[in-house]
Amino acid sequence: MSPAKQVSLSKAIKRAAELREQLDYHNYRYYVLDDPEIPDAEYDRLFRELQTLEGKFPALVTADSPTQRVGGAPLKAFGTVRHEAPMLSLDNAFSEEDLRNFDRRARAAVEAEQIYYQAEPKLDGLAVSLLYESGVLVRGATRGDGFSGEDITQNARTLRTIPLRLRGRGYPRVLEVRGEVYMPKMGFAQLNQRQAEQGEKIFANPRNAAAGSLRQLDPRITASRPLEMMCYGVGKFEDAGLAARHSEILERLQEWGLRISPERAVLEGVEALLKYYQRLGGKRDSLPYEIDGVVYKVDRIDLQQRLGFVARAPRWALAYKFPAQEEMTRVLDIGVQVGRTGALTPVARLKPILVGGATVANATLHNEDEVHRKDVRVGDTVVVRRAGDVIPEVVSVVLEQRPAHTKVFHLPKQCPVCGSEVIRMEGESAARCSAGLVCGAQRKEAIRHYASRRAMDIEGLGEKLIEQLVDKDIVHDVSDLYRLDLATLMALERMGEKSAQNFLVAIGASKSTTLNRFLFALGIREVGEATAHTLASHFGELEAVMEADEEALQKVPDVGPVVAAQIQAFFHEPHNHEVIKKLVEAGVHWPAVPRKTSAAPLMGKTFVLTGTLAGMSRDEAKQHLQSLGAKVSGSVSGKTDYVVVGAEAGSKLDKARALGVATLDEKDFLKLIGH
Ligand code: IVH
Repeated sequence: MSPAKQVSLSKAIKRAAELREQLDYHNYRYYVLDDPEIPDAEYDRLFRELQTLEGKFPALVTADSPTQRVGGAPLKAFGTVRHEAPMLSLDNAFSEEDLRNFDRRARAAVEAEQIYYQAEPKLDGLAVSLLYESGVLVRGATRGDGFSGEDITQNARTLRTIPLRLRGRGYPRVLEVRGEVYMPKMGFAQLNQRQAEQGEKIFANPRNAAAGSLRQLDPRITASRPLEMMCYGVGKFEDAGLAARHSEILERLQEWGLRISPERAVLEGVEALLKYYQRLGGKRDSLPYEIDGVVYKVDRIDLQQRLGFVARAPRWALAYKFPAQEEMTRVLDIGVQVGRTGALTPVARLKPILVGGATVANATLHNEDEVHRKDVRVGDTVVVRRAGDVIPEVVSVVLEQRPAHTKVFHLPKQCPVCGSEVIRMEGESAARCSAGLVCGAQRKEAIRHYASRRAMDIEGLGEKLIEQLVDKDIVHDVSDLYRLDLATLMALERMGEKSAQNFLVAIGASKSTTLNRFLFALGIREVGEATAHTLASHFGELEAVMEADEEALQKVPDVGPVVAAQIQAFFHEPHNHEVIKKLVEAGVHWPAVPRKTSAAPLMGKTFVLTGTLAGMSRDEAKQHLQSLGAKVSGSVSGKTDYVVVGAEAGSKLDKARALGVATLDEKDFLKLIGH
């Protein structure tokens, strides 16, 4: 080798080692400490530098290099791993009494007044064992039946929350770490969306998705799935002790680069255990991953040893479950709802059942294909799921319990509301009533949408009132709202003079609006608040939007062919022109919109605001951003460019981190908007 090459090789060796160390460190800050030091873009830059270097000098590649997480060919089958110390399960508690009994028995057995427990969330994923030898990850295995599981080493290596090499020092030469691999809620939703778009299998819940993703023979598939791991204990360890308390062991694991639950707490006495259960239960929906209860463990290892095991569960630990998010019940009927756009949605009418703490009597079946895919029939026993504030849905049918003579479900050929023909367009999953605004259901929905807070904001126009106005043929389209008078209103049920007057004032006030609200209020398909806003600022006036052809529409940021076609179709409809004309004649008006010039440096960028800014209100911040051409969205997604983070930021920040979206603090933000 030439001297020049030798120099560059020795430099490369040094630089590669530096980069690996930095990447490991930043990975640790991000995943284990949840406290990143550098922006993701910088991490990516370091990562690419290492990749390039390793590409140039393949001899530099080490098995524990952060670039080597996905490697190796797909397997034919998984090998079997025998767990030297069996992976046990936990006894369950379902009531406060169960928990009190557990504590009483534990105290009696060790003859103690009070016991310190470690409390942790019970993560809803699958148990995994990681074996480290001299600090290097040598094997990953699933729990299997507790005695032997599958060798998933290649797949475990693809998770960035699993260190390929332990950090620091003092770890035993052989250390088996145990924990839960799970899929965060956001990642689960995105995965299912992707699966649906590609016509692939939809996962019933994040746990199934995690299990399905980890048990892939091709590690590249696992690498593409948003899996994470959190550790909650150890199996065997050799040649060094660990610590006298479970809580200390977890902290050691954290020092060595393994992720442990930030929700963990050491508590004394059963009252504190109950309080923790309430507190964590209250947080359940806002956590970025699913949990199904709390696990309590006697903290002192010597007491754990004295308590020992019964059958396959330790006597020193207990899982106190939260109300289940999935339950079984019977389908009494399958109804059909007609939405604002005429889409027919099949809805299972259920024998009411308590799921996740709320009674569920209806669950969406999404569309006809979904009903057929799950083959849901009237009379079936089904699994119903309700997670957080998500609409309850039917997950699956319990086929063994299907009664005789059930019938396959079909959507009606006529709209159940107006009797018009139902049409399903090629390539669309929804079947729709073809009648448009002639259909009462669609009219009601259109009026409800028009009056909604973010559209024309007409206070007092609730469901019951809309129902009467449409059913009694008083209001045919939204322009009729502005022709209502006191006498007509007072003739309606539950409408006194005072409320009728208030309502008329609210209708009058709604006439003064903005172009973006008005465009949004029209209920054009695919045109949400954000698109209405960009349309308004791009075209400046209503006539220009109405006259724009598809080509002109597609010049608007974020308006693609589908949205452009919908806007065109809407304004092509003479009836819609008529309604708009009547609205303007009735006095609906808005101030001129300043046209966007090229001085829109943030054009095409999407921002999300979270937390409280010290220097300005959220609305002000939003207006600043919009005036610079940016779009401001309410939720973080893969399309978000920046999340502006104020004080006490909540779950949006977590989402941003989970998705690797760039964040700005108040200082950066002010600088960006030139304040
Ligand atoms: S400890 C001997 N801690 O629950 C103790 N398990 O029902 C063994 N799990 O298979 C488990 N979160 O998959 C423990 N913080 C936690 C847990 C947890 C979830 C799962 C684990 C285990 C099952 C036992």
